[in-house]
Parts: sequence; C-alpha cells; structure tokens
Amino acid sequence: MSTEVLEIGYGSKPAFKEGTLFRDDSVNYIGLELPTSFDGSFVWASDPRDFTHVTGSMDMMPFRDEAFDYVLMRSVFGQFNSQPSIVSAVRTGIYECMRILKPNGKMVVSEENTPRDAEYIERELKSAGFVIEASQYMSEKSWDETPEDDEYRATRSLFYTAKPEGAHGSYFGTPNIVVGVKPEDIEFETRMRDVMSNFYEERDSMEDWHVRKLPFKIPKR
Ligand SMILES: C[S@@+](CC[C@H](N)C(=O)[O-])C[C@H]1O[C@@H](n2cnc3c(N)ncnc32)[C@H](O)[C@@H]1O
Repeated sequence: MSTEVLEIGYGSKPAFKEGTLFRDDSVNYIGLELPTSFDGSFVWASDPRDFTHVTGSMDMMPFRDEAFDYVLMRSVFGQFNSQPSIVSAVRTGIYECMRILKPNGKMVVSEENTPRDAEYIERELKSAGFVIEASQYMSEKSWDETPEDDEYRATRSLFYTAKPEGAHGSYFGTPNIVVGVKPEDIEFETRMRDVMSNFYEERDSMEDWHVRKLPFKIPKR
C-alpha cells in the first residue's frame, strides 16, 4: 500500500521525499501552494521535480476525507502574522488537515524561518483535536555540531533532512517541530461557511469576487 504525503506551502523549497520516512518508491507526494499571483505567495519558480502540484489554499482543499498518511507544513504557520487573511486561512486549514488525514495520520508542523513558537502550534493543533506526539526545539548548537541522535534532529530527519533555515537566537526565533496525531475516534460536524470565490485564484480584476456559502467539516469538540 502506498504512503500518501501532502506538503502544504512548499514555496520555492519543497521537501520532496527528503525525509527518511519518504524515500520508498511507494510514497505518493503531492504539493499544495497558493497561486503565484497571490500577495504573500513565496513560489518564485515552478519546481521541475516530478510531483503533483495542486494550486489552492489549505482552508478549502480539493482532497477527499481520509486521503493522507502525512501532512507537512514547513514555515507556513508563522508566515505574515500581520496579514490576517493568511493567518486565518492557516488556522482554518488545520481543520481541513484533520479531515483529509487518515485515522492515526500525522500532521507535521516545522517552523524554521517564521516567528511562531512550538507552544502556539501545539495549542492550535490541540484545539483542532490532534494529540501531540512531539514538540521540540533545535538545540543551541550549530547544525553541523548537532548529533544525529539529538531529539529535534532525530524527529525532523523523518520528514526533512536539508539543513534548517534560521538558528537559535535569530530574529525568526528557534526552529521547532510539532507532530500531531489524528485520533481514530474523532467526529465531525458540518457547518456552512462564507467563502470568497476566486480569492486564491489567478485573476485580472477584483470585480469577479463573490461570496458563496459552502459546507465545511470541522472536528467536534
Ligand atoms: C515562508 S514560505 C515557506 C516555503 C517552504 N515550505 C520552505 O520551507 O521554504 C510559506 C509558504 O506558505 C504558503 N502559504 C501561505 N498560506 C497558504 C495557504 N493558505 N495555503 C497554501 N499555502 C500557503 C506561501 O505561499 C509560501 O510559499
């Protein structure tokens, strides 16, 4: 059986099959990104590597329920704290991640050059119903001096192996990783939600925006 992996907000540096868990040929890798036209998108060039690129926003993903074993997000959560549309899409998107993960599937949030601490990420994941499996910070050592059995490095290597961006004490805060697990017994309720169509799509004018009500599944708490 294949392992289904979704990387959200891969930007100009996808972690495509980097992690030690994902080197197997049976891994099916999909990347989701905002369109390059969206203010705040970090996609500078299309990535030539061979994975399925899907354009969209994580708050309304075009994937069926229970489709993925892993959802990865690196340096997406803390991006643009000052830009409310991004912050709100990411927070709502965590419910979508819960929906599209298989039971016991894992949500992996790695903050490396964005200013969000692990405690904030933990709170967000817990409030969506995830059980926290790991929450770790990079040590004060430089990456080259960090041993492979260091707690943070060992967890991160499962998903990413290139050197992390940012460093202890930098402006961006200390790189960290939080892993949440989707419980088997989580239940959902469906609510209607206002969605501004075309908001995240390529567009020439603002004229064609309109608000639609769409059903949205959120975990029951
Ligand atoms: C700071 S960049 C990090 C890129 C890459 N993951 C890395 O580690 O270098 C954050 C990325 O998240 C994407 N992003 C922000 N909000 C998003 C959303 N709602 N849905 C999908 N991607 C989003 C941005 O377009 C941007 O490319």
